[in-house]
Amino acid sequence: MQEKEELILILDFYGQYNQLIARRVRECNVYCELVRYDISADEIKRRGAKGVIFTGGPASVYADGAPKCDPKIFELGIPVLGICYGMQMMTQTLGGEVKRADKREYGETEVALESSVLFDGFGDKNVCLMSHTDFVGDLPDGFRTIARTPSCPNAAIENAEKKFYGIQFHPEVNNTVNGTAIIDNFVKKVCGCSGLWKMSAFAKETVKALREKIGDGKALCALSGGVDSSVAAALLNEAIGENLTCIFVDHGLLRKNEGDEVEEIFGKRFKSKFIRVDAEERFLSKLAGVEDPEKKRKIIGEEFINVFEEEAKKIGSVDYLVQGTIYPDVVESGKGNGATIKSHHNVGGLPDHVDFREIVEPLRDLFKDEVRAVGRELGIPDKLVDRQPFPGPGLAIRVIGEVTKDKLDMLRDADLIFREELERDGVNREANQYFAALTNVRSVGVMGDYRTYDYMIALRCVTTVDFMTATFTRVPYDTLERVSARIVNEVKHVNRVVYDITGKPPATIEYE
Ligand code: XMP
Repeated sequence: MQEKEELILILDFYGQYNQLIARRVRECNVYCELVRYDISADEIKRRGAKGVIFTGGPASVYADGAPKCDPKIFELGIPVLGICYGMQMMTQTLGGEVKRADKREYGETEVALESSVLFDGFGDKNVCLMSHTDFVGDLPDGFRTIARTPSCPNAAIENAEKKFYGIQFHPEVNNTVNGTAIIDNFVKKVCGCSGLWKMSAFAKETVKALREKIGDGKALCALSGGVDSSVAAALLNEAIGENLTCIFVDHGLLRKNEGDEVEEIFGKRFKSKFIRVDAEERFLSKLAGVEDPEKKRKIIGEEFINVFEEEAKKIGSVDYLVQGTIYPDVVESGKGNGATIKSHHNVGGLPDHVDFREIVEPLRDLFKDEVRAVGRELGIPDKLVDRQPFPGPGLAIRVIGEVTKDKLDMLRDADLIFREELERDGVNREANQYFAALTNVRSVGVMGDYRTYDYMIALRCVTTVDFMTATFTRVPYDTLERVSARIVNEVKHVNRVVYDITGKPPATIEYE
């Protein structure tokens, strides 16, 4: 079965978890698209959707201008699942009543379930994330209650004959136990999707769509060697081949051998044009004498744009600028519908002065692990696809204080030893990010019969799900001992190694 024959449309009512709903549907191996809430019933029919999902949203159905769907959707004869605001909006549209509560219900709540196809496969109680103020009171004709909590009489409702379902809680978040199973039941048992769609289809479809969009146009991509820009470049390479030029600004702040690895893949194996700009000296001379972390970041960001612009100008005008923006970047930058958390260098950080018509962001709707899956489909080696997060300013923020070439070389060697030993012992499987940092502490040591006065390396290894909080990984002492011995023996001018046992918070993962 072709994936496009099995389309679920998710109508976006501006909830903060909307892309997460899309992601869950994809996890059920069903193709879906997030579309505007006011898409017409005719368009939904024309596209042959097998079902629609209404997302949550911040509005109350009673607010002026509260977003409403085309009511004809309920006459199409296709299944509907309304989540939170989506459920309330459906209830109101179909003649039921939404009530206003005095206070918000928020948190993980035990919900009593009745038998319904949505809850097939699990028991009569389920912990779910509730986050609402309004709630459904009187049900529209033909509906019955299928879940309740002490404070929410209609935590889920159904009209099984018409295949309309509403849930007040959020099945898309991890806090809701069996959440993905509820979505799976809806898309497969209610909508009848077979679940044959795979991430490989995303790669194929995206390549096709990019080819149609760009045609014979030219595209430019700033390749950092990180996962996101690499996968974006790989999609464009498949789509338009040599009409894509990748510019890889080697700022000399990369890990050991990293620049050569990027060149090996993109310069040799890909059809696209690849330019590696050796800008180490430029960056290091700008960084000379600078100790303040924020100043370092700023200099690197600005210099990156300068170098990129100079190279881009040599190429002349291009039609498209490719960026590896992924969905969490969009959210963090407040460019999606969620609240702003922090600005991110990937979004909107690239040149104003490069002459291009449009930005292409083929990974904008995907989460990191999905991006990795696409990368694998496109044949990018695991080593690159599984690469840990690496900050844009590179090793410059892992050399505490002033950055010099000698310090960077010391750090590169120590960092490689740490990574090699963790991987050798399999400790890397429990850790999500690990690296060495060169502190600006020098201390006295003794080697052979000599006094030394050398640098201290700090080892950082953390376990985390989302990188917003983290704990230090319990690396075995034996591993640490070997790392320490190798670093002081093999890296000149390092005579002390410490392991960082601070969580985030209060520390951050990086040192600067
Ligand atoms: P912190 O140090 O804030 O880092 O705990 C959280 C995660 O973000 C990465 N990081 C960056 N990534 N540009 C990036 O692309 C940056 O400037 C940057 N600073 C930190 C860091 O490696 C960790 O995974």
